[in-house]
This record gives sequence, C-alpha cells and structure tokens, in this order.
Amino acid sequence: MCGIVGYVGDRDATPVLVNALRKLEYRGYDSAGIAVIGPEGLVVRKAKGALRRLEELIATETIRGSCGIGHTRWATHGEPSDVNSHPHTDVSGRIAVVHNGIIENHAKLRAWLEGRGVAFRSQTDTEVIAHLVDHHYEGDLLKAVVAVMGRIEGSYALAVVCEDEPGKIVAVRKDSPLVVGLGKAENLIASDVPALLEYTREVVYLEDKEIAVLTRDRVDFFDGAGERLSKKPSHVDWDVAAAEKGGFEHFMLKEIHEQPKALTDTFRARVDGDGKVNLSEIGLDESWARARRVVITACGTAWHAGVVAKYAFERIARIPVDVDIASEFRYRSPLFDPSDIFIIISQSGETADTLAAMRMARSSGARVIAITNVVGSTLAREADLVMYTWAGPEIAVASTKAFTTQLMCVYLIAIRLAALRGALADADAARLVGELSRLPDSARAILDRQAEIQRFASQSFNKSKAFFMGRLFDYAISLESALKLKEISYTHSEAFAAGELKHGPIALVDDSTLVVAICTQRELFDKMDSNIKEVKARGATVLVVTFDGESYFDATADAVFRVPEAPGELTPILSVIPCQLYAYYCAIQRGLDPDKPRNLAKSVTVE
Ligand code: M6R
Repeated sequence: MCGIVGYVGDRDATPVLVNALRKLEYRGYDSAGIAVIGPEGLVVRKAKGALRRLEELIATETIRGSCGIGHTRWATHGEPSDVNSHPHTDVSGRIAVVHNGIIENHAKLRAWLEGRGVAFRSQTDTEVIAHLVDHHYEGDLLKAVVAVMGRIEGSYALAVVCEDEPGKIVAVRKDSPLVVGLGKAENLIASDVPALLEYTREVVYLEDKEIAVLTRDRVDFFDGAGERLSKKPSHVDWDVAAAEKGGFEHFMLKEIHEQPKALTDTFRARVDGDGKVNLSEIGLDESWARARRVVITACGTAWHAGVVAKYAFERIARIPVDVDIASEFRYRSPLFDPSDIFIIISQSGETADTLAAMRMARSSGARVIAITNVVGSTLAREADLVMYTWAGPEIAVASTKAFTTQLMCVYLIAIRLAALRGALADADAARLVGELSRLPDSARAILDRQAEIQRFASQSFNKSKAFFMGRLFDYAISLESALKLKEISYTHSEAFAAGELKHGPIALVDDSTLVVAICTQRELFDKMDSNIKEVKARGATVLVVTFDGESYFDATADAVFRVPEAPGELTPILSVIPCQLYAYYCAIQRGLDPDKPRNLAKSVTVE
C-alpha cells in the first residue's frame, strides 16, 4: 500500500516531504521519491529501497522549492526499481504524478498513448496518468485531472503538480484514502493522518471522486465533474501511534477490516466487463489446460489456502490436486510429471521451505504459478507465472487479509482453468463470478457484527482447549481458525475433519472444551448436527458458524454466528472472518498483544 504526501507553503518542501513519508513507512514500501517545483522547475528524485536511500541521494544537493509531492511505493505493476518508483512524469518532464491504487485499464491506455508517439519509461500503471494529464492539459491542471478521471478505471489516490502552475497541488481519490491537512500559510495532503500531525491537526477526509486543489493559502474542493464542494474539517485528537493503525487498536484488527477492500482489488482487475475471468495479465493460457494434475505447496496459513484450493480445483475445474506442506514435500520423494502445474502460495514470497519446494518443482521441469503478496519477492522472480494478491502490506504476524485474497486468487484460477479445460459451462462460470463479486460486501456485513464475536470471546476466552471442526471447505477453515487462535491467544487449539471425531479427538472433549463447528456445507448439515450433539453430550461449549437466517443448529449450539449465504465452495472467504475476530478478541481478553505473538516471525526465511 503506497503512501502519498504533498506540501505547499512557506517551508522548503523537501524536508517536509521526507519527514511525512517517514510517518507512512509503517504501510510498507519498496522505493521512495519526491517531486518539487522551485526556481529550477520540476525536480524529481527517486530511489529503490528504504527512504534512507532517497535521503542519501539528495544529501549533496539543495532542492529549492516550497511545493512538492512525495511517495513510498509498494510495487504492483513492475518490479521495485528506481525507474518504477514514483513520481512519474510526462514526456516533457513538467508534470509529475504520485499514485496509490491500481489502474485497471492501464494496458489499453498505454497502447493508445504509444500509438500517439509516447515513449514509456517504466512498467507501471501509474505512468499512463502522467501522460494523460499532459494530453488533456490546456493551462488548467484541475480540468486536466477531471478529464483523466473520466478515462481511468480502478482505484486511485493521486497527487499531481505542474511546472506551469507552481504552488498548486491537485489531489483526488477513488477507493484509496487521501486526507488534506489544513495549516497556517501551508497546506498538505497525505494517504494517512500520521504524516500530517507534525504540521496540523485540522484535516479534511476526501470521499470517493472528490478533488482537492491546494495552494499556500487555501484548499478548494470539487466533485468528479469539477463542481465546487464545501467540506467540513475534523480535528484529530489521536496520538501518532494510534493514527498509524488508522484508529484501530492493532494492525491485526485493521487488516481484518481491510479485507472487503483487498478482496475487491484482487477480484476486480481480473474480471472483464462481461463477467469473464481474464488472467491474460499472468499468462495463464491454453497450454496450462493440458496438465493432468495440480500440486500445491505452502506453509502455515498459505498451506490452508492450499487445502481450500484442493477442494475448489477438484470441484470447479475437475482436475486432481495434491496439496502438501512445503517442509514435508521437500524431504519426501515426490513424483513429478512434466505436465504438472505447481501452485506455490506465500504471502511474503520469501519462506525458505516454500522456495525450496518451488525450486524442486522447477528443476523437475514442471511449471510454477506463484500466488504472493510481495512484488519482486524471490518467489515472484523465480516462478513461471505470478498472480499477486494485491492485499497491501500485511504487518501483523497473524495472516488475515493475505489469506482471504489468496483464496480469491485460487477461485479465479480455478474458474479460468475450468473454462480452458471445458469443465465448466459458461453459465456456471458466470454464476460463480457473480457470487465472487458479492463476497466483499458480505465480508463487510460480517465485520459490522464483530461485537457479537467480541461478546462470545469475553465469555469463552479462558477455555483451556478449543477444537475447530468442519467438513470439506469447512475443514480447511477449521485448520486456519485453530492456527489463528493458537498463535495469538496461546490457547491450545486443534482442528479436525468432523468425521474424524469418533476416531480419536472425542476422547479429549470435556466441559473445559470449546468446540467451534463451521457449518456452511448444506448437504452435510445433518452430519455436523450429529457431531455437535456428540461433543455437547460430553460437556463442550459449542459455537456454530453458519448462514444468515439458518436455524438448523439453534437447538444444539450454545451460540451461533451467522455469515451471509454463499455457494458452499466459496464460503471459506466468509466463514474465516468470525474466527479471525474470535482469535483477536481472545488475545485481547487474555491481555496479549496480537500483533507481536511470542516466538513467531512474520517471515520465516530460515528452516
Ligand atoms: O509468507 P508465507 O505466506 O510463506 O508464510 C507462511 C507462514 O509462515 C504464515 O502463514 C504463518 O503461518 C502465519 N503466522 C499465520 O498467521
């Protein structure tokens, strides 16, 4: 998730921009840059790596000018590099743009601009914006930005400056945050409040498609058509630490709440206007349809995404799937077929065991699709095809939004592969895509009810053990939910396929046991109900996760949490959310910091 800052006022812009960018470092980034307008015209400096590298770059010069924009980039289109860093400029170098978000129609726009003789310098989607602003610029930056908004699709927060209008910043947002800071003889813009707090506590939050035009003495607001708006400032009374978490108490809770937006970002750029999955961006073509088997390897939460993927690929694309923990896979003697498709899943793209499994697969001649969140990670660089989850940086050790966006990628690949293999009728594919498009809103509806989970956690957090059980897709989510609970609340928790209950686990059930029964597979409700009765008879407290309006388990369960209805194969994206929240609130009840669980690291780069 990139960070945007902008400054216009009496001070030198450069130190203000660098200082403000530092306050946005928590968002994660891989490069940084600034553009300042001064007596020398527009000066752009940018560098791959930490902000320190940008500071070293500009340490030996004086960049004069009191109006500028800055950016920390979290790569999406194009690897982290100096040239792909923001700001991006038009051909003449008089217009500079910083951007947060994804321009979905950038390929079309790029082709159109190239057809008009524009030579691109970077691989980014953002560069099209700089050239488009130039194309529409007729002496009024606001009008040019309004025209560009009519041409770009996707999510964006933008700040734009132009040498011909020094002392002015035009900023706009759609689906990506942007806040205006109102100062005395200075005004600022930033992706998030922490970057502003050293200069002002009076802020205006931009809503979608609202534009702010900042000069030293005033800020004017406009709607997407360029009509003037009046906006009321708010006073910020949070401290900086709270502000970095967007008002949430912990990064984990913030990231849980970011899931609707992250799911939308993952989905939207891969589905055409006619509702068809289009994975041309990652290169998944007919040649991949000849595979006889899919093999999935990963670790931890990413492996749980692989377990969901096994069920999803077999059901949707009718192709056999093996799923394996990467650390097991690399030391057993796996059998390879050159036609195998390997799917390697990793949030960080740097997990040692996962990379080793990927390298084994490649050296056997198999082709590898990586699903990862980190652009330019080792996994992304070494795999044959890469599908980015575009969840934005995940800071909490416990993986949440990375998991649900991994699942979104899995479903999109499964539907596309099914189409290539002739395994799914067009109408069924369209129905599934329609259902996927509804999941972000359904996730939002679950989050709106988090108080119910919080209440249940306050009543049950001190249980000495917790079992999660389910069947099919609900079994996969039981695995993930048990991991979430154990890693941040240190509750002894296990997951099992509900059909296994009688084969051993029931021996452990007593009145100190919490059982969370995930029940979203309608055809197996009666089996789950029997399992619930069996654990209830041994004294367990039972929480059921099932659908809105469903009363099947009301008589047996102690508590029921409901999620919006979805087809059985797609429910994992929804049913995991109450379990993430449950783990979070149990950790809080136990007085633990969920962002920093003991003995765990965010990225496991050693064996
Ligand atoms: O970066 P990766 O997805 O490869 O990481 C894999 C696991 O280390 C990770 O999912 C871990 O299990 C998380 N802490 C789970 O919340």
